[in-house]
Amino acid sequence: MEKLIDRITGEVTKAFTEAGYDARYGKVTLSNRPDLCEYQCNGAMAAAKEYRCAPFQISDRIAEALSGNPMFAAAESVKPGFLNLKVSPEYLAEYLNGMQEEDGRFGCEKTKHPKTIIVDYGGANVAKPLHVGHLRSAIIGESVKRIGRFMGHTMIGDVHLGDWGLQMGLIIVELKARKPELVYFDESYTGEYPAEPPFTISELEEIYPAASKKSKEDEAYKEAAMQATFELQNGRRGYQALLSHILTVSVTDLKRNYESLNVSFELWKGESDAQPYIPDMVQKMKDDGFAYISDGALVVDVKEETDTKEIPPCMILKSDGAALYNTTDLATLVWRMQDYQPDGIIYVVDKRQELYFTQVFRCAKKTGIVKPETELKFLGFGTMNGKDGKPFRTRDGGVMRLEYLVADINREMLTKITENQKTKEDLKLDSEKAEETAKIVALSAIKYGDLSNQAGKDYVFDVDRFTSFEGNTGPYILYTIVRIKSILSKYEAQGKKVSDGKGAILAARTDNEKNLMLAVSRFSAVVENAFEETAPHKLCTYIYELSNAFNVFYHETRILAEEDEELRRSYIGLLSLTKGVLEACIDMLGFSAPERM
Ligand code: ARG
Repeated sequence: MEKLIDRITGEVTKAFTEAGYDARYGKVTLSNRPDLCEYQCNGAMAAAKEYRCAPFQISDRIAEALSGNPMFAAAESVKPGFLNLKVSPEYLAEYLNGMQEEDGRFGCEKTKHPKTIIVDYGGANVAKPLHVGHLRSAIIGESVKRIGRFMGHTMIGDVHLGDWGLQMGLIIVELKARKPELVYFDESYTGEYPAEPPFTISELEEIYPAASKKSKEDEAYKEAAMQATFELQNGRRGYQALLSHILTVSVTDLKRNYESLNVSFELWKGESDAQPYIPDMVQKMKDDGFAYISDGALVVDVKEETDTKEIPPCMILKSDGAALYNTTDLATLVWRMQDYQPDGIIYVVDKRQELYFTQVFRCAKKTGIVKPETELKFLGFGTMNGKDGKPFRTRDGGVMRLEYLVADINREMLTKITENQKTKEDLKLDSEKAEETAKIVALSAIKYGDLSNQAGKDYVFDVDRFTSFEGNTGPYILYTIVRIKSILSKYEAQGKKVSDGKGAILAARTDNEKNLMLAVSRFSAVVENAFEETAPHKLCTYIYELSNAFNVFYHETRILAEEDEELRRSYIGLLSLTKGVLEACIDMLGFSAPERM
């Protein structure tokens, strides 16, 4: 279905061209003065310069031409030359009836040019527990992926595990100190290694921090860890067998964690998967004359003439020949291009890595790893702070583990829901149901709290605010959906069908009803824009407005008690469409609504 704003632009453009003006002046935008009109066109202001006349002479002519057009209830020319538009309630109702098709798209067309886009997000590090820093990447990346998918693109999420660093050497050294008898440490061993990992996830999670702490206090220990990392990376059999155990145990745990966040990945590739591509890649960079030795290290220049700040060369190999984080990201691009030929790759990473990615992207383009037309996009996110304005921590100041944070919010939500239930004699949830509901609502609190901010900004993780049922929060959105669900099921309990509302939406009778209908009609434009700008927060802003519009309408309208059968069916149609749109949006944000709360 064509977007409402495009249909309006179409009519206005026609009026401009028929009056002899250029079509480009007919562009319509949402009104920035909702008290005066719904849509507006400022084209006459610009056209006046070209046609050398007063702007209102043009806007008057256009308004005149649009009068009587069934799309508009009002088309007014306002000095000095604005065109203020109001959609006709009949036209709007028909538009909404068109949105009700059963395909679950609510009038939003899939793209005509589907792309393949890889989203690099998550970025968990193997054997280290997920912490809140990883939360944002997971939440934002998942939403970006879902929005793209809804638009009809092929979206591939890759977790890009951190599985190739010193942490591996640290774990190996610590394990050796604890269980030296393990066969993995016997260099003369040539047999097969046991299939069972020599540790559990809780042991593994305890081993890493212990080793990390020791390495900071004991130089020799750190040396040993670096040596083990080096041997691992150079193919020592026993260590590689250990690495694959570490991976299996850790990935199982990570999957469980991500699942609890409603986050999933198509690809579970890691930094280690890129290693085999490094030698050829480096050789080619040298052969093509891009890479050269500077201070012993191998580098590629990436600065450009138009730079306003210094962009240092991209380091490919350290002077000891070791590969870096850079090298891995470049080699990852090699296999991504080879295996998936993506049209674009979006990196959802802490914004502090922006300069680093500028270097990587430029280097990849310059050396031909990535085609010139492949779009590499860095979506940097800000820090999640506590109420004190400092990075979110545990009460005793430690790094907050994601699991604990989620558990905290679940508990908080359960308390609120139990409290809320006390006022609802007819809709009591049993305790198991209440816990399940608390989890669903808690996830909305966490995700909406994050996604409603522009990704690049820091934000304060405010548990009290995020879990509130009122205001711009996830639970408020869910509450609205649940409210609609409850009305619809009461309607069905009267022996009627919600599907009777199909095609039954009538012209709005009040401003508040029309407001709701206008909000509903904007769905496709909002999703498209959120995709184009890689901006999930735009979906949040939209569903907050839509929920507000619904709740205002709800408070002034007797829906089930409406006696006029036709009007009641119209309300049911509008409610079920509103619910559909809200649910489609929260699904793109990566959470869902319970039946009751
Ligand atoms: N593992 C990294 C970290 O914890 C994030 C990875 C980001 N993605 C990438 N392609 N470098 O900081």
